[in-house]
Amino acid sequence: MAYKNIVLFGFMGTGKTCIGKEVARKLDMTFVDMDDLVVGRAGKTIPQIFSEDGENHFRALERQVVVDLSRQSGLVIATGGGVIKNAENVSDLGCDGLEICLTAKPDIILGRVEDDTSRPLLNTDDRLVTIKALLHAREHLYNSIPNQIDTSEMTVDEAVEKIVTM
Ligand code: S3P
Repeated sequence: MAYKNIVLFGFMGTGKTCIGKEVARKLDMTFVDMDDLVVGRAGKTIPQIFSEDGENHFRALERQVVVDLSRQSGLVIATGGGVIKNAENVSDLGCDGLEICLTAKPDIILGRVEDDTSRPLLNTDDRLVTIKALLHAREHLYNSIPNQIDTSEMTVDEAVEKIVTM
């Protein structure tokens, strides 16, 4: 693997964590989940950060994690779905790294996140409408990553195979 890090971008429920863990195992790299690092540093859950400190504070914590991870190598990084909103995050993580954007169709995303209450942005009355609106707002950002993998109809193994042979 000629890359410093492998960076997985993509909306919530596109498979960044499941697929990233397996990619890291196969390539003997270290898996890191950015949300876990943010939670560890804040000492509170993501819903708590959003409700007590606000989304902007969450984004600032996320930014600090990006800066720290960008200085390391040998990592498979599952980013949070909103990391893409800050262009500096994308350029920092992409430096000498393999950047991949995972995608999935809205109804598939809904099925994957349905019973999950850990994603404050999706705690709305109509999750499908929210998913579609957020995807629409971020579409151009996700599309700017040259490597795209649609995981809608893929098994984890199939997606992993694609990535490890890139
Ligand atoms: C977010 C995605 C989440 C988490 C937070 C905000 C987003 O990460 O960072 O709830 O803005 O899309 P996952 O994509 O890992 O669920």
